[in-house]
Amino acid sequence: MNIPEQYQIKSLIHQNSYLVDGELRPWSGETSEVYSTISSTPNYAPTLLGTIPTLGEKEALEAMDAAVNAYNKGQGLWPTMKVKDRIACMEKFVAQMKTKRDAIVKLLMWEIGKSLPDSEKEFDRTVDYIYDTIEEYKQLDRDNAKFEKNEGVYAHIRRGPLGVVLCLGPYNYPLNETFALLIPALIMGNTAIFKPAKFGVLLISPLLEAFQSSFPKGVVNIIYGRGRTVATPIMQSGKVDVLALIGNSKSANALQNEHPKSNRLRLVLGLEAKNPAIVLKDADLDLAIDECIAGTTSFNGQRCTALKIVYVHEDIVDEFNKRFATRVDALKFGNPWESGVKLTPLPEPDKPQYIQELIDDALAKGATILNEKGGETTENYIFPAVLYPVNKDMRVFQEEQFGPVIPVLSFKDIDEPLDDMAESNYGQQVSLFGSDIKTLAPLIDTLVNLVCRVNLNSSCQRGPDVYPFTGRKDSAVATLSVHDALRSFSIRTFVASKDNAYNNAILNNLLDSKASNFVSTDYIL
Ligand code: G3H
Repeated sequence: MNIPEQYQIKSLIHQNSYLVDGELRPWSGETSEVYSTISSTPNYAPTLLGTIPTLGEKEALEAMDAAVNAYNKGQGLWPTMKVKDRIACMEKFVAQMKTKRDAIVKLLMWEIGKSLPDSEKEFDRTVDYIYDTIEEYKQLDRDNAKFEKNEGVYAHIRRGPLGVVLCLGPYNYPLNETFALLIPALIMGNTAIFKPAKFGVLLISPLLEAFQSSFPKGVVNIIYGRGRTVATPIMQSGKVDVLALIGNSKSANALQNEHPKSNRLRLVLGLEAKNPAIVLKDADLDLAIDECIAGTTSFNGQRCTALKIVYVHEDIVDEFNKRFATRVDALKFGNPWESGVKLTPLPEPDKPQYIQELIDDALAKGATILNEKGGETTENYIFPAVLYPVNKDMRVFQEEQFGPVIPVLSFKDIDEPLDDMAESNYGQQVSLFGSDIKTLAPLIDTLVNLVCRVNLNSSCQRGPDVYPFTGRKDSAVATLSVHDALRSFSIRTFVASKDNAYNNAILNNLLDSKASNFVSTDYIL
């Protein structure tokens, strides 16, 4: 195997501690091996990368107690800290994080098979997200550094933390999506228990010391193990205030149902989607094909925002299919560090088989594979098959494939895709390809009510991260963006007092003495 020197696995990472209550607690109990589906040898064999602790209920509940104690009924150091001091902790963390770029990028490639440019982008985007969050929080704080007066009542209104957050991220963006939950949750004054995703877990190891040294004890607790074993008892305790999860709606529902106090539990969820592309007959086909290639195949379709079903007007479907299928076959498959590689190994060992089942089901129900390489399988990959014509009875129509297979349907009447979208359990985004504004205008007016982002002549995507990222139905709860996430992880809370000399003197004293961290009109520059 021709693996560049700097990307070779020369030593294993044995993660033999976990972060609880400010301590990296040593673990000598059961461990789980972490494998990459990428081979290091000419004869295919998964590569062992290291081991992680298989923690149990006891350790999970210790982590939860540490987070509960750090919040300490709202009296903890972290939730009561001055905004500028919390920001200083975050700045310390991100400065240390930046020194770990090479190690984390390398692990992103091995653990989840993400290409080198995309792995670098994931790291850099996450660092930018942290800095942008800090700036946004300063602005929020400046906006709140004031008193209002209505009907004879003064009010000093800010946003306060919600409490203890259980944070669970996905394997496709194990750094970025997880941190897009964890960072705003922390900066707003919440305390957290964080369990890394099943794949993309060792890449958190280089950051454990940074978490430990940047935040007060118990503010961030990082645990390892099976979700069912560690997350379930944490939820059952009833002490979690926010479930922050990017992943599957079934796991989100199961965890919510474990919580005994449903009104206490706030939800910040990014879940499945089945984002359609709708290609109208007047679409610029070159552009539509470029964008549909990116939307359906980038990171092998393992993105919640991926285009997972393509509707093409019947007048142009033959031309679209011919050109699209050729373009798919031209995509280069290889290991993440290979130059120009667009398709990369799948991190889930059973994914090729699942995708094959979807293909077999579609073929049995009348679809064909349009591209020559479609369905070609190796030990860690199945080449994207362009399936046509797809119908509603097929599993590939119904299920979120989250992998390399591309279902195409033709439509005559625009109501066909619109009705499907209305019936769908999902409602994240759509890509709409066309140019005639008489057709586009009413369509846009409808589509914005079915999903939360209409991408005009562009593939679907989450970024730029300042834009709202959310969805309807089973696709999301709450909104994430640099701006919105600060709100999703906090609640408006305020001090009010009737306008009279007695109260006003006290308020003035509070402000002058700077004794309260909450009541403050100080301005962070
Ligand atoms: O998996 C879902 C991600 O939020 C998608 O983000 O559109 O930047 O790839 P992305």
